[in-house]
Amino acid sequence: MPTPVEKLFTRKTPRIRQRTSAAETRMREADETVRNVQKERQAMLRFLAYLTPYVPLFAAATLCGITNYAIGWVVPNVAGYVLDLVSHANRHVGRVNPLYPALDHLLAALAPQATLADKINFALVGVIFLLACSGGVIFLRSFLANVGGQRVIFKLRNDLYEHIQSLSLSFFQQNRSGSIVSRLTSDIALAQNFIGNACTLLWMDSLSVIGVVIWLFVLSPRMALISIIVLPLWVISVRFFGQRIRKASHAVQEGLSELSGSVQEKVAGATVVQAFAREKRETRLFHRMHRSLYDRQISTVRLQALNMTSSNLLTGIAPITVLLFGAHEVLNGRMTPGMMITFYLSLGMFYMPLQRLTDLAAVIANAGAAIERIFDIFDIAPDIADAPEAAPLPERIEGRVTLRNVSFGYDPDVPILKNLNLDIQPGEVVAFVGPSGAGKSTLVNLVPRFYDVTEGQILVDGLDIASVKVKSLRNAVGMVLQDNILFTGTIKENILYGRPGASDEEIVAAAVAANASHFIEALPDGYETEIGERGTKLSGGQKQRLAITRAFLRDPRILILDEATSALDSESEKLIQNALNKLMIGRTTLIIAHRLSTIMHADKIVTMADGKIVEVGSHNELLAKHGLYYHLYKAQFEHAFSQDNPFREMTGGEVAPAWSR
Ligand SMILES: Nc1ncnc2c1ncn2[C@@H]1O[C@H](COP(=O)(O)OP(=O)(O)O)[C@@H](O)[C@H]1O
Ligand SMILES: [Mg+2]
Repeated sequence: MPTPVEKLFTRKTPRIRQRTSAAETRMREADETVRNVQKERQAMLRFLAYLTPYVPLFAAATLCGITNYAIGWVVPNVAGYVLDLVSHANRHVGRVNPLYPALDHLLAALAPQATLADKINFALVGVIFLLACSGGVIFLRSFLANVGGQRVIFKLRNDLYEHIQSLSLSFFQQNRSGSIVSRLTSDIALAQNFIGNACTLLWMDSLSVIGVVIWLFVLSPRMALISIIVLPLWVISVRFFGQRIRKASHAVQEGLSELSGSVQEKVAGATVVQAFAREKRETRLFHRMHRSLYDRQISTVRLQALNMTSSNLLTGIAPITVLLFGAHEVLNGRMTPGMMITFYLSLGMFYMPLQRLTDLAAVIANAGAAIERIFDIFDIAPDIADAPEAAPLPERIEGRVTLRNVSFGYDPDVPILKNLNLDIQPGEVVAFVGPSGAGKSTLVNLVPRFYDVTEGQILVDGLDIASVKVKSLRNAVGMVLQDNILFTGTIKENILYGRPGASDEEIVAAAVAANASHFIEALPDGYETEIGERGTKLSGGQKQRLAITRAFLRDPRILILDEATSALDSESEKLIQNALNKLMIGRTTLIIAHRLSTIMHADKIVTMADGKIVEVGSHNELLAKHGLYYHLYKAQFEHAFSQDNPFREMTGGEVAPAWSR
């Protein structure tokens, strides 16, 4: 029998382990592979669509590359030609290199009276000139391709960021910030690698390989066959390693994003780590996570090394085979020595691009996985989007808020709010109280449509918020929360976040109203003071007053205060409560406060428990009812409460009144 405590930590629904036959598993894996390949192809196509505006740029780069290869193709032939000239070889054994007559003509035209030695010099100086030209085109190829790559990436990263900004809160809650960041940085960098080099090299190398093979067949089909004898082995090896490297690199990227997510979280929460003296443990956890990443990286490295070894071996065997068989061909009078040299040198033109194609296979595999992950994010649609016929909320709304049979669950199968009905008049202050976890925050977050109701409707001035433009709705709603996020920058910039474009006078007026002007003006740089990342250089109360300043500047018709004073000492609480009271004037206010003293004077108090509205009324009405509110209230005043309190659990067993601390 598990003890009651043990029960708390055991799963109510044990995980069901299904036994599946090996065949079934294999089939499922095969299915999965097919689906993955399709998905990857689609992602790749969408990515290539980004390249279309830069096709001329990439075409120019490719042209440069082809020129470079053309030069590389001429050189071995000229070398063979020169060798046959000096050795006075009989050219008419086997086939004659079609370039020889052309070279004869060229030399005859350039220097009709030249001696053989002059001709050799001419030919070789010509080759040097061509090689110098190839330096220029190599530069142009690389430059143009990379400029194109940078432009594509520039657009892709901007689009991705814009898309991420459009996503709903649920996306940010389900994904760690670190992994989102790694999409925008390391995955994009991998994709960039793909276009910067892979895209143009891929074409050129393939073309060059095909061109060289055709040329070799023209020269001597027998020798050509011998030269490419290792090609099938090479293809098999590339395919074998390509798939495995792709998988392994996917795993590495995932590990990397996990690691950066965790680091980001722990760095942001350094205070907590230190407060609990968990530095050692965090370091250990990091080591463990890092170790798993390291293992994955090593297995990728191993695969890459094996891949390189096998393809080096294959491409290394080829030239020797050519020399061996070539020598016999010359011996048997089927080929000139010059032709043999042409073959030997041409192999470089053949196996070098092949070799690079192998390396590219890994780049493309890595990039393919990254591109897939990037487009995975593009495929996430925002949960909260404007309805097709959505109209903006009127500029000046009255601020009536109505809940009609509202139900909601973060997971639609687990309802959190159950069938709520409530009418809030314009300008009314309505307080929500109840035990922690009752659903108060959830409820107020539905008003600016951070989430959509699962059932029912929320109306603002009689308009269903699902049918108005989200931006106009959010412009009408202001929020001050328990923990307000400030950004790196000056005080002024942070206040302006509430309404960009506000004048300095308006900023100061808002700060005065929010009781923030005194502390701001006492700072060395006043409104221009840098507040550090997330406002770390400010106290909790100061941050809160900046948040209130922001809200004043925004001037919303509907105001939401969720535990806005909960995290404060009583000194700043008074200042802030005073600022909030001013802020509430003339606005429909939904306020959640733990300390009931702050909401006693609300027009309406709504008590909630377990996702339902339990009571609605004024402070005095609810006290008279002797229900949940009465007991919550009593609990904050009495040092202990009686055993017969039916709401004992709901009031959370609070012992001392909040303000006696
Ligand atoms: N983002 C979320 N995703 C899933 N469940 C949530 C989320 N936020 C809150 N909850 C759950 O919803 C319930 C109500 O929470 P909340 O509205 O924060 O309560 P309150 O503000 O009244 O303390 C709790 O059971 C909580 O675990
Ligand atoms: Mg809450």
